[in-house]
Amino acid sequence: MTESQTSRNKVEREVARLRDEIVRHEELYYVHASPEISDAEYDALMERLRQLEEKYPDLQTPDSPTVRVGGRPAEGFAQYVHRVPLLSLDNSYNIEDLRAFDDRCRRLADGRRLEYVAELKIDGLSMSLHYEGSMLVRGVTRGDGRRGEDVTQNVRTIRAIPLRLKQADKTFAEAEVRGEVYLSRKEFERINAERDEESAARFANPRNAAAGTIRQLDPKIVAARRLDLFAYDLFAGDRKAFATHGGALKWLEASGFRVAPRALCASIDEVIEFCGRMEAERDGLGYEIDGVVVKVNSTALQDEFGATSKSPRWAIAYKYPARQATTQVEDIVVQVGRTGALTPVAILTPVQLAGTIVARATLHNEDEIKRLGVRVGDWVMIEKSGEIIPKVLKVVESKRTGAEKIFSFPEQCPVCGGVVSRPEGEVVSRCVAADCPAQLKGRLLHFASRRAMRIEGLGEALAEQFVSRKMVRDVTDLYALRLEDVAALERMADKSASNLLEQITASKHRDLPYLLFGLGIRHVGERTAGILARHFRSLERLGAASVEEMDAIHEIGLTVAESVRDWFDDAGNRTLCQRLREAGVRTELEASAHPGGEADGRVVGKQFVLTGKLETMSRDEARALIEGHGGRVTSTVSKKTDFVVAGEDAGSKLDKATGLGLTVIDENGLRELLA
Ligand code: IVH
Repeated sequence: MTESQTSRNKVEREVARLRDEIVRHEELYYVHASPEISDAEYDALMERLRQLEEKYPDLQTPDSPTVRVGGRPAEGFAQYVHRVPLLSLDNSYNIEDLRAFDDRCRRLADGRRLEYVAELKIDGLSMSLHYEGSMLVRGVTRGDGRRGEDVTQNVRTIRAIPLRLKQADKTFAEAEVRGEVYLSRKEFERINAERDEESAARFANPRNAAAGTIRQLDPKIVAARRLDLFAYDLFAGDRKAFATHGGALKWLEASGFRVAPRALCASIDEVIEFCGRMEAERDGLGYEIDGVVVKVNSTALQDEFGATSKSPRWAIAYKYPARQATTQVEDIVVQVGRTGALTPVAILTPVQLAGTIVARATLHNEDEIKRLGVRVGDWVMIEKSGEIIPKVLKVVESKRTGAEKIFSFPEQCPVCGGVVSRPEGEVVSRCVAADCPAQLKGRLLHFASRRAMRIEGLGEALAEQFVSRKMVRDVTDLYALRLEDVAALERMADKSASNLLEQITASKHRDLPYLLFGLGIRHVGERTAGILARHFRSLERLGAASVEEMDAIHEIGLTVAESVRDWFDDAGNRTLCQRLREAGVRTELEASAHPGGEADGRVVGKQFVLTGKLETMSRDEARALIEGHGGRVTSTVSKKTDFVVAGEDAGSKLDKATGLGLTVIDENGLRELLA
């Protein structure tokens, strides 16, 4: 075999391995909700695969996970006539309706065994997915039930939809999988927060957001919105594929789909019990449901019962009551966030709503207050939907007494008195004062948060004091804090102060994605921070990148690119970067954290023992550093130990290490090793 053949075989093997890995992690994440790797590591695998496929285009396959994002914006969507129409469901709103449904079914079953499958009714939009052999070939919206739109490109971006079915040996020549496309609450909130930033209209609820997304012409936007899917039906050609609905659901799961929580019920009482149980669990689900769908389990009986022109006789939707309540607005306050955005919040007379007590509701922005016409003292109807914080639906005008007070949106920042600006065409008003304490406090808390620099112990109360006492003017001041100053603060003891400083020091070693996220650049969320960090590998190189360079990266759009460029064009921000570097904060991507990059061969898999007192870091920090580079730290010295890191007053462990002739290094040696 020639040399080039050998290296080509190697690439082929790597590509195959990467694909298997990615598909496995996608399934762990989206189907089992138990990821084994971080988003960042996942992105890195994907990036590596993309690079290889770009270099060796003939290795690209239609079911490669990289095919999910990509493709060009569509001109429009082609119509597609459904082989079997997508019917709707009859609704029921109470237990009596359910019992009446059961009576009808039993009459039709005429003494034959009757079981039901009760499953969650997901509040999204229905989707029909076509597989030929085991390959996804088409995705079609419901449309009017007979004719939908071909949205295959968009459907491919949904990671919960297998591009190739697992158990390919047990599939059908033509399989049609039906399911509900939806947005999780978390994604919904993230998207609306982004839309606030961009001054785009908010989506009213996750269903609207999902519906708006699936009809996007640009698959890149769809990919960024991270839709999800639960499968609920299966056809082989134009027939039901299994003798029972439960059997079809099992096949769907085994083929790589997610199926929503469900129960096989031997009686309508069991169905009713399931409906009650899931209603109680509704809030904790992470996605919106609007009820339970009850289906006859036997597909033979389903065929026999048939359908009206609108809906099948073998299924019914049990709808949960809307979760609304009325209460009074006691006050409207305005909060200032780290970006300076002013958010009005209605303070409500506490009211019970779907199991929790609600005392606040967001009013989002000035326009929303105008749209609702809400005044202080008004009675309002509130609803708990996709958002964790309930929203105000409308004012109950019949309850007005005339004593209500019109709320005027502040023209100055309620915290610093600074100028509030609301550019033409935007919905968000912002405090533009550079030194607004509310913004600074928000920025500090964001920088210190777990998902950013993870400075444990830096909470609200401390941030407040740092800011009000002018001890901290930007995040870099954190690295210059002195023990005695921190210890002198309210509710601070020497111990907690030194713990905090240790945490701050340890944060210097956090990897670039966390720093980048922590800087709070507009439109740079965790995922985007990871993508940018891995692409540019240092804060400096990112700061020097042009808008075009960034826009050319997969999953990075123009909005992000421009926002990052703007941030680095600001002289104050450039100084901030410089000061971070001077403080010793890591601004380069850690080499070993990059699969496909140069793994640090000197440290990976090596055993370390720490002994004595280190100069600038605690043992825990040293351990974290070593482990971050792929090394292991143990407590006993043995022949297997590769390095002993000895600090001041190192005792018997050091003696033993010298006796065994092991490599002993000090803190500087460790730093060099890890550099
Ligand atoms: S079965 C003929 N199962 O609800 C059977 N539908 O109101 C039709 N939906 O158009 C669908 N979760 O989009 C079924 N577990 C589930 C569902 C579900 C949500 C939606 C579906 C349908 C609508 C009918």
